[in-house]
Amino acid sequence: MTDMQMQGAATDIPPFAIVPLSPVAGAEITGLDLSVPLTPPLCDAVMDAFVRHHVLVFRNQDLDKDRQYDFTLNFGEIEEHVGRLGSGEKYPLVHTVTNRDEVTGRPTATPRTHGNYFWHTDKSYHAVPSLLTMLHAVELPPSGGDTLFANMHMAWDALSGSEQRELEGLRAVHSWEASRRNTGNVPATEQQKRERPPVSHPLVRTHPVTGRRSLYLGMHVSHVEGMEPDASRELLARLLEAATVDEHVYRHAWRPGDLVMWDNRCLLHRADRNYDMATHARVLHRTVVKGTVPV
Ligand code: SIN
Repeated sequence: MTDMQMQGAATDIPPFAIVPLSPVAGAEITGLDLSVPLTPPLCDAVMDAFVRHHVLVFRNQDLDKDRQYDFTLNFGEIEEHVGRLGSGEKYPLVHTVTNRDEVTGRPTATPRTHGNYFWHTDKSYHAVPSLLTMLHAVELPPSGGDTLFANMHMAWDALSGSEQRELEGLRAVHSWEASRRNTGNVPATEQQKRERPPVSHPLVRTHPVTGRRSLYLGMHVSHVEGMEPDASRELLARLLEAATVDEHVYRHAWRPGDLVMWDNRCLLHRADRNYDMATHARVLHRTVVKGTVPV
């Protein structure tokens, strides 16, 4: 591929349009074929739209795993995955989110890995959590199986001044072990606990690009440092409920070929069980880009 065959090489004007999808988050990017390499200025333009809209949707993308890998690399270092099995590999860089049973291959309402159905921000159990995640729709139910995105800037802004002052300076402990417990998953093994020790992050973080404040919580959180367990549980549950009210949520209804990328630094997300999981398959390919230490 020569430079001239790369999208965005011939002109300074980005060859795409941005169509906002909701006031909460989300914009559709039209006019880009993600299977063709992007020039660095074009990547910058995509990143600029990403930071403004938090969720970008690219329709009708025909991407195999290699192409998704290449596209993801435009935005940083790709994260290995933790504790998932995909394509027979233990830690694939492009792995499969699915409700197909690992043994029978049939759709199931009780997939082994189901943490994606709970509000979370990706890999917050790492000291250096994720910047962004991409999902590419491979197989979809006839309807439903949506992904919900809750805007944590809005969640922060909705708090009163005194509530905000109470939260400033608090830190929450995130861990793989807590995540497994909070989602009713197979408990973490002793080896997993050793390999993935708990980490502490600010409960209120600042977006590294925009400087905006947001709540940083979700199912990977174990407790708030220095608080009594009951008080910590009550606070986290109350914040999560208020943070994820409909007014803060963009609901993405998937279409075949969609590639969606989102900003883990200011959103929570979860899949919706609003489809017949025991009958229909929902399969997406997932890549994750490493971020920076939350501050
Ligand atoms: C994820 O949690 O990264 C996947 C969300 C989904 O399945 O929609």
